[in-house]
Amino acid sequence: MSTKKKSIIKCIDWRSIEEPDLPLEVAGWLMETGSMTERFERHCHKIIIDLKHEGFIEHQALSDEKELLPESPRYWIREVVMCADDEPWLLGRTVIPQDTLSGPEHALLNLGKTPLGRYLFSSKDLKRDYIQTGRQGDLWARRSLLQLSNKPLLLTEVFLPASPLYCHSRNTKLA
Ligand code: PHB
Repeated sequence: MSTKKKSIIKCIDWRSIEEPDLPLEVAGWLMETGSMTERFERHCHKIIIDLKHEGFIEHQALSDEKELLPESPRYWIREVVMCADDEPWLLGRTVIPQDTLSGPEHALLNLGKTPLGRYLFSSKDLKRDYIQTGRQGDLWARRSLLQLSNKPLLLTEVFLPASPLYCHSRNTKLA
């Protein structure tokens, strides 16, 4: 059965490669290839995942995401708000084709409040095919096509106003 649920992530204008370069301080965040959770942890005391939604949806319920992923009868969706010291810093939406959940990746169904990055970056076989950047109004966003043991998943992240990406002077851990 398809889950008709509104995404926590509203329409994003994805940037094409022809668009002018990103501001340097923004590029440093959006093009981060390591764990965003670990990067954020350097700027706060405590990260918490507020799990908004997890479940399967059918192919037709995807947005333009369907053009970026192989066709599958079902996809696992995970939507979270990442909060740092009780402030929302990031919206995350992960779309995982059913076939990606085979073998050890079955564990992705049981992440709950564990940050996705803890699973991804503990894998010995994680590759990032690309990062595409975008805008949601005044906010910056990015999406990454990742491969776990050559099985794809798409991660979209929107950086909320309180995120350190917007605060170029607040770049060190608070005392
Ligand atoms: C998640 O737990 O789903 C998650 C965590 C951190 C991100 C994106 C997604 O940057």
